[in-house]
Amino acid sequence: MKEKRKKSLNSSQSLTNSPVLNTEALPYHVAIIMDGNGRWAQKRFLNRIKGHRKGAETVRTIVRTCREIGISILTLYAFSTENWERPRSEVTALMALLKKFLESEQKEMLENNIRLNAIGQIERMPEDIQAALHQTMTVTENKTGMLLNLALSYGGRSEIVRMVREIAKKARDGEIDIASITPALVSENLYTRGIPDPDLLIRTSGEIRISNFLLWQIAYTEIFFTDTLWPDFTKEEFLQILNGFKRRERRYGKIES
Ligand code: IPE
Ligand code: IPE
Ligand code: MG
Repeated sequence: MKEKRKKSLNSSQSLTNSPVLNTEALPYHVAIIMDGNGRWAQKRFLNRIKGHRKGAETVRTIVRTCREIGISILTLYAFSTENWERPRSEVTALMALLKKFLESEQKEMLENNIRLNAIGQIERMPEDIQAALHQTMTVTENKTGMLLNLALSYGGRSEIVRMVREIAKKARDGEIDIASITPALVSENLYTRGIPDPDLLIRTSGEIRISNFLLWQIAYTEIFFTDTLWPDFTKEEFLQILNGFKRRERRYGKIES
């Protein structure tokens, strides 16, 4: 994995000489809780939907930036299992925005060698969204420059429940021994199967909580909270956080020898 990481970093040269960013210490996998769209709109006496629309522009900027600087995996928390309980008009508007995003970004994903993946209860999404997702995932399936992983109708607890059911079924059917249930097997039965855990998690909007995101996967992730509302989040602030990440000492419970 170390070798692979180095290679992907070296292959993206566009910002390598930039004084703002040391690409040597980039996180391999960045996850973001994109929060604060509603408050951004409310502060301007606008409908919350306008905030989501503006937030979609930030998504575009951050996806581009990640691709440019050589981040290998970007996971974005776009819609949680709890978000279904918002007013129907907001849910409908979010779904429409997502569909628009998939349609408008497909060309850019193809041109920039980005593969799309979705994690979460995709079967709960409206059928047209599921179709758009599957279509984009299929046409980008062989892209290797970056993985854009969208968390949709995603909840860490329901992901864990689903994993427990899958493993219990395999144990009941005699496919696995109880003794072979390891952290690696648990990881393989999550939506994020095959995807290394995030190195860096960012949450915007000033809330200091995880809100049911990637509960298992963030065991040793470095976390940054910023007060900036997602629609105001910029490439510059993102690069600053990446520089902050570089200064973190990741000990994984051990001590420096
Ligand atoms: C994040 O912004 C987007 C989603 C959860 C879909 P919010 O809509 O949660 O914005 P705030 O937190 O109300 O400001
Ligand atoms: C987390 O934000 C979910 C997403 C960003 C998609 P929420 O706004 O739903 O979380 P809470 O309600 O502040 O915990
Ligand atoms: Mg919120």
